[in-house]
Amino acid sequence: MKEAMQRLREASIRAILESNDTEDLESLRVKYLGKKGELTAILRQMGKLSAEERPAMGQLANQLRSDIEESIERRCAELSEAMLAMKLEREAVDVTMPGREPQLGHKHPMYNVLDQIKDIFIGMGFEIVDGPEVELADYNFTKLNIDEGHPSREWTDTFYFTEDSRILLRTQTSPMQIHAMEAKELPIRMIAPGRVYRKDEVDATHSPMFHQIEGMVIDKGVTMADLKATLNLVVEKIYGKGTVTRFRPHHFPFTEPSCEMDIQCHKCGGKGCPTCKGEGWIEVLGAGMVHPKVLAGCGIDPDVYSGWAFGMGLERLAMGEYKITDLRLIFENDVRFLEQF
Ligand code: PHE
Repeated sequence: MKEAMQRLREASIRAILESNDTEDLESLRVKYLGKKGELTAILRQMGKLSAEERPAMGQLANQLRSDIEESIERRCAELSEAMLAMKLEREAVDVTMPGREPQLGHKHPMYNVLDQIKDIFIGMGFEIVDGPEVELADYNFTKLNIDEGHPSREWTDTFYFTEDSRILLRTQTSPMQIHAMEAKELPIRMIAPGRVYRKDEVDATHSPMFHQIEGMVIDKGVTMADLKATLNLVVEKIYGKGTVTRFRPHHFPFTEPSCEMDIQCHKCGGKGCPTCKGEGWIEVLGAGMVHPKVLAGCGIDPDVYSGWAFGMGLERLAMGEYKITDLRLIFENDVRFLEQF
């Protein structure tokens, strides 16, 4: 029995010293000192000893138990110290290392143009308003004098949400004219920039989502002359003094009379070149005097008040200003493209 205890002492101490983590140590404790452990097995033999031998053996067994316990504890402390040291080393921070400079982005070129336009209009006392992209057909069409059956209401051109063609993605920012007239006190001077959606295939000049800026003034005695003067001023601020414009008659259901405004090509000065597709002029916006029916529909008396409105494409403006030849570049957001601005 004495020899058995001696063997257990040597084997257990060696195993404890060789163990490399605290979980191992716990299973060693069970193996040697547990209820079904090796020391218990030896102690079961006590019954075979004489009454004189028993106290000495008992003492020896107790000594062995506390020695094994102590070495487990010592090894446990060693291991956790080593683990802490390793962790500290791994997480060491070199405070003398030079920092990494964060790469700062910048505003998207199209938003530069938008901000420039907002500044111009704010300077003239206009208010910037925002409105829903998911719109009622009533606001996108009907209240703008675009009746049931008008080709622009076709399912092939417009993204509808409901079978009854009642809810849609706005195809133009013009519904903001109606929202403004219904909600605001007169007079009104506002611009409303935002996204619009049409079922167009993507190519160099088309995208199913693009941006427009709507503008509108409603007051007493407003005329077409105010519209022309205001838009000429805006164009001069964007494209430079002396930029030539022309207003061509056009048709929109919600303005009467209606027109489109062109600017003389800044590249060729009107002679005709690839930028203006040989035309000498570049179309920039649609505009006109707000239709009396539209005014009346919003509860504004057309005999007392009049107004003008315009809508222009923001991408096209940015493409002109930054000489961007493909619309897709504006939306792809490839940093190699964006970094150039
Ligand atoms: N909403 C028209 C379009 O998308 C533009 C427009 C706006 C025309 C305001 C006249 C007045 O083509």
